[in-house]
Amino acid sequence: MAVKTATGAPAALPAGITAVPANKGFWAWLNKRLPVEEFYRSQLTGYYAPKNFNIWYFFGSLALLALVLQLLSGVYLTMFYKVGETTSFDSVEYIMREVDYGWLIRYLHSTGASAFFIVVYLHMYRALLYGSYRTPREMLWLLGMLVYLALMAEAFMGYVLPWGNMSFWGAQVIVNLFGTIPGIGPGLVEWIRGDYGIADATLNRFFALHVALLPLALLLLVRSMAFRSIPTTRSRMSSASACSSCCSRSCCSSYRPSVGCSSSRRTSSPPTRCRRRSTSRRCGTSRPTTRSCAPCPTSASVHS
Ligand code: HEM
Repeated sequence: MAVKTATGAPAALPAGITAVPANKGFWAWLNKRLPVEEFYRSQLTGYYAPKNFNIWYFFGSLALLALVLQLLSGVYLTMFYKVGETTSFDSVEYIMREVDYGWLIRYLHSTGASAFFIVVYLHMYRALLYGSYRTPREMLWLLGMLVYLALMAEAFMGYVLPWGNMSFWGAQVIVNLFGTIPGIGPGLVEWIRGDYGIADATLNRFFALHVALLPLALLLLVRSMAFRSIPTTRSRMSSASACSSCCSRSCCSSYRPSVGCSSSRRTSSPPTRCRRRSTSRRCGTSRPTTRSCAPCPTSASVHS
């Protein structure tokens, strides 16, 4: 299967750059079966990204890294943790003292949870700073809010698991907050606890939610947010106007006020189905004008 660029067009090298000949030996054999080089080129060295990216945009992928680290360290902890009101505390002590590098993994998990929130707050701040919640990305913002809620639930339930004093009283306070909901509050609190007080039943269900349901929900939500193309305003324009608007300072990294865009930066693969071409006034490059042309590469998967 051919590797695609962010615009959905087949991957191609920018003009003037030639591919390293790799038609010999193991590398060639591998590339023929698994297009490592093509993937590297289209996703890293030749990836079209808006030129207005800055350090604030790091935190999304850092949040993903934090999530992966939490999942991995969590699985390791689950191998030694024993859920139950008589076993939880002792099993965490066992992890800290007896398990090889157990202390490291536990601290990675507990400190990682705090780091995760710092990164997520910075990520949310960036979204507010640049108005990323606005049209056409409202859905992305709402999904992000769901991720945030799921993450808070995940961290809260994890905090209860060591079954220390802080865990117990933390659970007592947070669960009782639901009791303030008029009418259904007291019944809801009992339903969440599964008992008349914070007890073994509460610990067991929190464990199940912490290691199974909530991580799954988080992964699905993150999947729905992070790895899809969000239509930009530009991609909703007609192909002709989109084509020329792509040649503006804001989206074209090779833009020069005097010359405009170079065609190699503006489109990784020129439309091939065009019958007739004309020269763009703004770009100084060839672009399609007839209706039968392939659409210009405008739907950059950008989360601004
Ligand atoms: C977003 C993901 C996660 C967050 C934010 C998170 C957060 C936490 C927190 C704050 C604790 C209490 C740490 C402590 O004070 O000792 C904890 C404990 C625990 N977590 Fe997670 N966790 C996550 C994912 C997972 C996953 C995926 C698993 C298992 C598959 C897992 C398994 C455990 C276990 C077994 C404990 C109890 C052992 C301990 O307290 O060190 N966690 N988690």
